[in-house]
Amino acid sequence: MNLPPEDSEKEFFNRSYEGGLNEAYEDLVIDNPRELSDVVDEPWTYFFSIIGNLKGKKVLDLGCGIGLLSIALAINEAQVTAIDISEIGISITNKRAKANNFQDRILAKCMSAYNIQCQDGYFDLVVGNGILHHLEMEEIIPEIKRVLKPNGYLCFVEPVIPNRFNRTIKNMLVKLFKIKKQDLTEDEEPLSKEEVNYIKSNFKIISCQGFYFLSKINQLLDKIFENKSKHFPIFSLIDRFCYKHIKFTRSFFWGISILGRKK
Ligand SMILES: C[S@@+](CC[C@H](N)C(=O)[O-])C[C@H]1O[C@@H](n2cnc3c(N)ncnc32)[C@H](O)[C@@H]1O
Repeated sequence: MNLPPEDSEKEFFNRSYEGGLNEAYEDLVIDNPRELSDVVDEPWTYFFSIIGNLKGKKVLDLGCGIGLLSIALAINEAQVTAIDISEIGISITNKRAKANNFQDRILAKCMSAYNIQCQDGYFDLVVGNGILHHLEMEEIIPEIKRVLKPNGYLCFVEPVIPNRFNRTIKNMLVKLFKIKKQDLTEDEEPLSKEEVNYIKSNFKIISCQGFYFLSKINQLLDKIFENKSKHFPIFSLIDRFCYKHIKFTRSFFWGISILGRKK
């Protein structure tokens, strides 16, 4: 039976978080930086380096999953509202907030991103990691604008459609090293150029940065050596240089971060 998109997302992620909690995310307390870096990896480290002080700022973590980004925001002293369609994700986020002594900084609630229960202009910043590409852009962008204060910010890190050459190389490596492919939901699709442009046309863009061209190798090494491999920061430095200065390389990137301000 085909479920409506939100119901099938909810079912998929409830199932995956139930499994995840028993395996990789058993420890709710984040004392292992590698665990936090599962979500708060390079693009978010970059974001935290340019956004400035978040002390007391009202931040919405859209599609918070199991709350890793919310914890990173709370570490940066933000007042976080975390929402997700998966009640299991929300229950883990609440437990994680408590276990890390952030129950005063993180409030997690189960709700739809399309219908955020708060007054207009409430948030200073809306963020999300890997969520927009699960949603209908023309519905979610106006909702984000509604809940943002005038001059409020948005920051999202999302996968983008890689070119055919990249996909071929990746598929070869996946086969060669017998890497387990990530499960995907029926409705997710990396953001297209048009979708990225739609976001850009609705906000004053402060930074749009590509990630995971050469540094994709770090992710692949993590998969092959089950998170025990060394990371090579040089790949990220080359990526940043290429994205900025060698424009034709842009179609080789797997992810982007967009930081913008409400117009
Ligand atoms: C790829 S996961 C990312 C989770 C988290 N941000 C992270 O980085 O681990 C996408 C998340 O979006 C949530 N989601 C999907 N559709 C949603 C919707 N309509 N409203 C709220 N959350 C939604 C899913 O339940 C899931 O937790």
